Amino acid sequence: MPHLLLVDDDPEALEWLSELAKGEGFSVAQADSLRAARIHMTRLQPDVLLTDLQLPDGQGIELVDDLEARESTEVVLITGHASVESAVQALRLGASDYLVKPVDVERLRAILRRVPKAGELRAEIGELRDELRKLGRFGHILGSSSPMQKLYDQIGRVAPTSATVLLMGESGTGKELAAQTIHDLSRRKKAPFLPLNCGAVSPQLIESELFGHEKGSFTGADRQHKGYFERAHGGSLFLDEITEMPQELQVKLLRVLETGSFMRVGTTTPLAADVRLIAATNRNPEQAVAEGKLREDLYHRLNVFPIQMPPLRERGTDIELLAQHFLEQLNRQESAAKSFAPATVAALYAHGWPGNVRELKNYVQRAFILADEVIDANLAPASVAAPEPAPLLTVRVGSTLEEVSRRLIEATLAECGSKRKAADMLGISLKTLYNRLAAYKSESADERDAA
Ligand SMILES: Nc1ncnc2c1ncn2[C@@H]1O[C@H](COP(=O)(O)OP(=O)(O)OP(=O)(O)O)[C@@H](O)[C@H]1O
Ligand SMILES: [Mg+2]
Repeated sequence: MPHLLLVDDDPEALEWLSELAKGEGFSVAQADSLRAARIHMTRLQPDVLLTDLQLPDGQGIELVDDLEARESTEVVLITGHASVESAVQALRLGASDYLVKPVDVERLRAILRRVPKAGELRAEIGELRDELRKLGRFGHILGSSSPMQKLYDQIGRVAPTSATVLLMGESGTGKELAAQTIHDLSRRKKAPFLPLNCGAVSPQLIESELFGHEKGSFTGADRQHKGYFERAHGGSLFLDEITEMPQELQVKLLRVLETGSFMRVGTTTPLAADVRLIAATNRNPEQAVAEGKLREDLYHRLNVFPIQMPPLRERGTDIELLAQHFLEQLNRQESAAKSFAPATVAALYAHGWPGNVRELKNYVQRAFILADEVIDANLAPASVAAPEPAPLLTVRVGSTLEEVSRRLIEATLAECGSKRKAADMLGISLKTLYNRLAAYKSESADERDAA
């Protein structure tokens, strides 16, 4: 029988929480302070530590240090409404979940039922992390650079919790892929992962898209409709481009986050929202707040666990690793054996990749189609195709300045094909250039006459 240690200084809470845990098949021990909990833990280590955050002699999360098997023990925190911030801090310190008072019985039950699974998940994530060090990937996310290692650590830490995640990063950095990975590594993986692009739905429809509506709740609502929150029940909802969500709806979303329930449009019956939110933006959210696009209160609610996606240009050798991966994928699909010329690889590194991984993927696709066997430098990303080096002019020591400048002017003119451009390049006025050219012409004529 799994063992649960319950720590709370409220005797009433101890009583009913303990009943509930027993009902879920745990043997339960109670403690009303950190001190009492520590004494208990020296005797018997719990499989689950369910603790109030504020205790008379300190913070419940401090008990994490007394756990012998941190990886396999589930730490669930109970916190007063006002201290969501500290709960978030606690998640970062190693708690696996938290509940806000008044404790939602169903959520607690759900957490307790998932407990053994959460341990497995953690082990799974641990294995995955080791794997990726060898292979340079994490689930479907590829990359072995140090910013990516940091990203994997963050994803691995937050995925098994129910914390809201805010993904920030430029377009094409893999925010949606990261969101999907967080879902796949969570206890919710068997329930749906639903992405909603807040910028792509009309402001009139987005509310009923999110929350659903009752038949007849507005013109055109001819039948009941289940919204994203209902369809993602038990799963995760990915709110992409969150800053594009209309303000009134941001207020409603905030309310869902605070109360854990929502209402279909045209009804007043609250429905429980058992959905993990993952939001994303390719703007700087603080700037969006300053510009009045993103409500500050919503931002703080979403910013529970912020993750910054690194841009491709800061990912070092990942550029090559990704390019080779996309190419191999195409080779397999098309039974081909195309490869990059070394100069092309060099050009990949030199390119800035403003469109990040998406741009790289599209580029490889295009180059694959255009190349026969080898993707040569002429198929390097457009903006980096090295300019043709300008031809050289050799002058013999002992030449006069007059001779050298004549040859330089003539060579520059031949290269540019335009007198104005040549004058600019030489740093002389167009008039001077004409004068010089006229002089050379008459000199040549003189030489011919003399010959
Ligand atoms: N690290 C990665 N490894 C493999 N594929 C990746 C990686 N990052 C992104 N991709 C691929 O690049 C494309 C763009 O990724 P994704 O849609 O997740 O980016 P995004 O950050 O959501 O972009 P946007 O802000 O434009 O919506 C997808 O095809 C995705 O599979
Ligand atoms: Mg996206």
